[in-house]
Amino acid sequence: MNANIRRAVASDVERLGALHSACWTELYTGLLAPEVLAELNAETMTHLWSKFVTRGGDYVQFVAEVDGEIVGFVGYGPGRDTGYEDLIELYFIYVAPAFTRRGIGKQLADAAWPASYAWLWDRNRPAVAFYRKMRFGPDSQRRRGTLFGTELLEVRLVRDVAEPA
Ligand SMILES: CC(C)(COP(=O)(O)OP(=O)(O)OC[C@H]1O[C@@H](n2cnc3c(N)ncnc32)[C@H](O)[C@@H]1OP(=O)(O)O)[C@@H](O)C(=O)NCCC(=O)NCCS
Repeated sequence: MNANIRRAVASDVERLGALHSACWTELYTGLLAPEVLAELNAETMTHLWSKFVTRGGDYVQFVAEVDGEIVGFVGYGPGRDTGYEDLIELYFIYVAPAFTRRGIGKQLADAAWPASYAWLWDRNRPAVAFYRKMRFGPDSQRRRGTLFGTELLEVRLVRDVAEPA
């Protein structure tokens, strides 16, 4: 399936907020407390997205559209690790469940080709498999992160090529 990939704009933020909230629920139900997940609702995420899309500079977000509907997104920007400030980090990528396994994640990852590394929750096995396919493999770095007070182990994945195949 060929989605239309374009830069996210201010008029997208409500749809993106709703999708991003769904992403949190999909990924972290069972890990995060229900009250934390409830906080990450569409309204909160819409507010965050209105900041993301106006941040400018090296902070970039793309959306994937199918028949005019946003079904996925990706965001990247300056590396947040000490010593990685000159690299580009892939912060998040998401495709709505009804549209997965149709190549849209790859289209988004290709749009994010300047990104050369990402951190991922180690128990997110499907995403680890996806990233591996996108040529992001684990380096030796692990960290014990905290997500809204809940501890989780994260792995750092580094892309072995600079541009999409
Ligand atoms: C990870 C994610 C973005 C993949 O999106 P997608 O549109 O399904 O990815 P694609 O269809 O482009 O998949 C490309 C390849 O990656 C691999 N892959 C994708 N999803 C996979 C899965 N669930 N299990 C194993 N391999 C997978 C496959 O090799 C796939 O090719 P194939 O379908 O021909 O076998 C999507 O599943 C998602 O949004 N997950 C929830 C959010 C998330 O975990 N994000 C990452 C952390 S921010």
